[in-house]
Amino acid sequence: MINTMLIASDVYPRLAILLVVFTSCAMEAECLRVQIPSHCKQGFSMPPTPTSCVAIPRRRTSIFTRLYRSFLYVQHVEEMKSSFIETDLRNAAMRLHTKEQAPREGKAVTVTTEPYVPTIQDYLQFLVDSKHVYEALEVAVNSRSELALLRCTGLERSVPLEQDILFITQEYGISRPSVGDMGKQYSSKIQLIVADGSNIPEFICHYYNFYFAHLAGGRMIGKKMSSLLLNNKTLEFYKYGDDLPQLKSRTKALIESMASAWTEEERQKCIEATEEAFYYGGGLNSYLMGGEVSKSH
Ligand code: HEM
Repeated sequence: MINTMLIASDVYPRLAILLVVFTSCAMEAECLRVQIPSHCKQGFSMPPTPTSCVAIPRRRTSIFTRLYRSFLYVQHVEEMKSSFIETDLRNAAMRLHTKEQAPREGKAVTVTTEPYVPTIQDYLQFLVDSKHVYEALEVAVNSRSELALLRCTGLERSVPLEQDILFITQEYGISRPSVGDMGKQYSSKIQLIVADGSNIPEFICHYYNFYFAHLAGGRMIGKKMSSLLLNNKTLEFYKYGDDLPQLKSRTKALIESMASAWTEEERQKCIEATEEAFYYGGGLNSYLMGGEVSKSH
């Protein structure tokens, strides 16, 4: 009997605390529910606008609010796991990485090459060609109405790249190289893809791979080049402001909302373009591995 009383006196207060926590969480949930745009909660079924997917306002920051935010975040991550971009398209890209590039997800066979130390000229050529490709992507997005959702995502890179190219030419006294073969070929390819507006899924594959490659492995490359060639200076190319995770997830959500209107055949077309995106994107990287530019020096 005493034992039962002791257990009860121990358990009931805890139950009471739990009850208060859950009730408050539920109230908080109701309160926050109205503040989250519906496409953020419902797998992005509505086309979101870049500014509509805002963070939950920071009016109340009680433990319950934070708990519920964590819960929403987990829910959001779970939703993204079942999305086209986070599963099919991303998996297609990750499979084409070598273990060396992406140790957790890479599946491609590593081709061993002679070690090569890139020069500032190689890096400059890489930046010049990358800018040329970004320009082609940005012109396509700004000129085709089917791509209007992707205007002004905040990920655009041709302006910061121009600043970096000017900086390097001035700081290191190197003349600006003309766009190399890799950049010209990829830019022409992009123009061809969007020319008649019927290959939007293929274009989206190139768009996703080029922008998000530079946000993943590209930033790793940027850090290496910075310490090797630029006295640890961070180029404008790699600066996105404080809300990069948000910019990334918003842009992915925009692509997701476009893909949600595609047929199965269009989705396949998008996924199948991944190899070509790697062919061209990898071609630009080869400037840093003793490829094109070094041969032409
Ligand atoms: C030296 C070359 C490369 C390295 C070291 C590299 C490394 C990586 C790593 C580590 C990730 C995983 C990031 C993460 O989710 O945690 C990644 C993701 C990715 N990479 Fe690469 N990568 C390289 C080249 C490329 C190329 C050539 C392409 C295509 C043009 C590409 C496209 C992608 C894409 C689309 C993702 C997924 C990004 C996302 O969905 O957020 N990568 N890369």
